[in-house]
Amino acid sequence: MRTHLVAGNWKMHTHPKEGLALVQEILSGLGKAESEVWVFPPATHLSLLAEPLAQSPVKLGAQNAASAAQGAYTGELSVSMLKACGAQGLLIGHSERRQLFGETGKVLNQKLERCLEEDLTPFLCVGETLEERESGNHMEVVRHQIEEATEGFDGEALQTLVIAYEPVWAIGTGQTASPFQAQEMHAFIRRVWAKKFGESAAEKIRILYGGSVKPENAAELFGQTDIDGGLIGGASLKAADFLQIVQANPHYDL
Ligand code: 13P
Repeated sequence: MRTHLVAGNWKMHTHPKEGLALVQEILSGLGKAESEVWVFPPATHLSLLAEPLAQSPVKLGAQNAASAAQGAYTGELSVSMLKACGAQGLLIGHSERRQLFGETGKVLNQKLERCLEEDLTPFLCVGETLEERESGNHMEVVRHQIEEATEGFDGEALQTLVIAYEPVWAIGTGQTASPFQAQEMHAFIRRVWAKKFGESAAEKIRILYGGSVKPENAAELFGQTDIDGGLIGGASLKAADFLQIVQANPHYDL
């Protein structure tokens, strides 16, 4: 059985001390979490948050890293630097990185390689724009994003990888994909994975949904067969909302 996973992507919000207060609030309300819980704060917060989180069940990740391992890349941060600051995972290919910073499948493929070299858990983000959905191309777009990012890797190397399906039109818009739309895409992603890496790998891979997840809609989304949790933006910045989403785990009573 796949362990339910809920992750908070803080994006470019909070200063380090505010981030510390937020994790303290999350930790004090978490109780006995039945889910795997991650936070992805800005990189400036990693060192500060690593210590309180190390004593807790909550894992820490970074939102982005350079595609190169090291070198003359002013302003960039390598995966190994982020790991040294406490990161255990990395978001790869968030739509904001693809759209605002022009990250291509080739670059994401290199980031995935860096991430696996350093033994960090990769969270590969995929998702179509509204235009792509309206033209009926959404499934092909997502398939292509997965194929480009994972090219050259085998299923064994990608065992720890988590996929986050985040339709671009649902991010920060308040417009959530319906449980049917989300489930349909998640089942498709699992089939793509099965074709590439085999049925057993596809059964094991966790596929998160992201895009306007809130306490009010989390349980219904997470109750879908192929939705294994969520990647939460705005609602992860309020401890109470994030905790309610964490607790909306359909397997909680099993
Ligand atoms: P929102 O939950 O704010 O829509 O953001 C989703 C997201 O982009 C998480 O990575």
